[in-house]
Amino acid sequence: MLSPKLPKIFYGGDYNPEQWPEPVWREDVKLMREAGVNLVSVGIFSWARLQPNEKTYTFEWFDRVMDLLAENGILACVATATASTPAWMSKKYPDVLAVDAQGKTYYPGARQHYSPCSPTYRRLAAALVRRLAARYAKHPALAAWHINNEYGCHMSACHGEASTRAFRGWLRKKYRSLEALNEAWGTAFWSQHYYGWDEILTPRRAPYHPNPTQQLDFRRFMSDAFLELCVMERDILRAATPAVPITTNFMGFFEPLDYRRWARELDFTSWDSYPDPATGHAAEASAASGHDLTRSLKKDRPWVLMEQVTSQVNWRPVNVLKRPGVMRLWSLQAIARGADGVMFFQWRASLGGAEKFHGALVPHAGTKQSRVFREAKALGAEVRMLGPVIGSLVRSRAAIAMDWNAWWGVGLDSRPGRINYAATLAEFHRYFFERNIAVDFVHPGEDLGDYDLVVAPALYLLAAKDAANLERFVARGGVFLTTYFSGIVDENERIVPGGYPADLRRVLGLWVEEWSPCVEGETKRVRFAKEGRTVACSHWCDVLHLEGAKALATYAEDFFAGTPALTVNEFGRGAAYYAGTKFETEDLARVLDGVCERAKVAPVLRAPKNVEVTLREKDGGRFLFLLNHGVQPASVALGGFAGVDLLTGGRVRGTVKLEPLGVRVVAVDGGSARAGTGE
Ligand code: GAL
Repeated sequence: MLSPKLPKIFYGGDYNPEQWPEPVWREDVKLMREAGVNLVSVGIFSWARLQPNEKTYTFEWFDRVMDLLAENGILACVATATASTPAWMSKKYPDVLAVDAQGKTYYPGARQHYSPCSPTYRRLAAALVRRLAARYAKHPALAAWHINNEYGCHMSACHGEASTRAFRGWLRKKYRSLEALNEAWGTAFWSQHYYGWDEILTPRRAPYHPNPTQQLDFRRFMSDAFLELCVMERDILRAATPAVPITTNFMGFFEPLDYRRWARELDFTSWDSYPDPATGHAAEASAASGHDLTRSLKKDRPWVLMEQVTSQVNWRPVNVLKRPGVMRLWSLQAIARGADGVMFFQWRASLGGAEKFHGALVPHAGTKQSRVFREAKALGAEVRMLGPVIGSLVRSRAAIAMDWNAWWGVGLDSRPGRINYAATLAEFHRYFFERNIAVDFVHPGEDLGDYDLVVAPALYLLAAKDAANLERFVARGGVFLTTYFSGIVDENERIVPGGYPADLRRVLGLWVEEWSPCVEGETKRVRFAKEGRTVACSHWCDVLHLEGAKALATYAEDFFAGTPALTVNEFGRGAAYYAGTKFETEDLARVLDGVCERAKVAPVLRAPKNVEVTLREKDGGRFLFLLNHGVQPASVALGGFAGVDLLTGGRVRGTVKLEPLGVRVVAVDGGSARAGTGE
């Protein structure tokens, strides 16, 4: 269980009482109870109200909020309030303000304008957190800590003086000597050699491509700089309240922060999921990938959906509404994929400020006439019924290997062609999502012993030790697939010479001589040997040579006609596949079907299109989730699964019917059913 004080699925949301007069708070807690809310994230943007100047703190109003929550049996995920600095602070200490790559300052007036490296920010944030921790350590409402809020969301790269100094310090620690830095950065190129640490700058506005390794190191540094803030707060909180769990809310596939490094420092992971209802079924696929990432970052425990919206957000050009039933379905989807908490931004819709058109549990009209509140209340009751799933985990035999360093590297300028790393990961994840095959996101260097299949699309930057890890995985019987532009550079963003993809050559049984990227809209033909089918490919064509691998498909045109486009290499006890080009979605799915079959990786159940199926497991319990994202009823044959539907109390076996947007959560009878077989 994530918080010893709250042995329930968390249900609630961001609560911003500072926006309301006190009589409204009393109505708030009454309505929270009515809606089944058991936890609120409180104080996220309260800094200005908690500290009117450097010397004065005004916690009394916050005490009253906490007391009121406790009196009403509602627990608090207390925020550290450091996400947005008060105006007095930057007036007194302008060094608190962040600066962009053009040298322009970010001013207060919105939020998150602070520099993560400002010593003043750090000092004042630490002082606030110390006081909060001391004041509420023993408060009966405190159930968890919520550090800051969405670090880096709007401002993720500061080039100010403090950041520049800190960057130099980070580089000194990493490289120890200037020679090592010059070598790693390849400064022999374009007269970039450094003779003193103080010559080094953050990659600021420059006439042409800044040094790529400098850019890469800057991204690593910035991710670490924000993480240092988080760890600083974490340490203060942990010292004051060793038993109270700590989190900060992630943003899923958020490029600036290497969440893998972050997750280790937290007690549980959480994230804010805002799929766009306008994108149809892509919305639930995209939410699923964020859920799977958040879960994979801390595989041994459930996670929390810290924010989502009840109805519609305010920050897209057109903010499409979640239709009736969608909020419920998508909330239960998070639980299906391993969440033990379903929370919202925010509790009560604001009357003023930039987010007044953002949905909330309590809309502007109040609750009486509100569809949203009715749905929220019904969901609160259902979430309560799902208590038995607490602590259970989703177990995957398939994994997608991904690395923030590869993401940052492949996204740098001056590449042979553009590769959208996040979109590529999403495309591969969607295959597993649609097939209802449980999948994790892993680092290529981590222990892969839990997996039978690892796919690693566009793993451009790959350290030799991580390549060796993948090779060992295959040698021991794993099935591996990677794609073009993988294993091209080392961790310093330097080419590994002698034929691409150098450190993966042996396991793949091939080498790539050159690549021929396609222009937008251009396609080539590829012929699959066994099936005798010719299909279109696009984006990129590797020209490769076999060194033991077997061609499964060959190009059917251009000067490289007849050369391999898709290969497999038997290696040790396993097999390694390589796709040198981009296949259309259905063709990729066929390829991956073959790869899964080879790895004996199977769906939880075979279900009709748009029906999502997952399984959560723990000692003494297995829970089968069936979610119909379609607008038509659907029938699912349960195979060997049978049990009790936790939402209705009814027994289910054989074939179950799902209403449009319908959900079943089956506590599976002990005994025969096994994940991946349904038998
Ligand atoms: C999140 C943020 C919240 C709120 C919400 C609106 O990114 O953490 O404070 O702004 O978005 O969707």
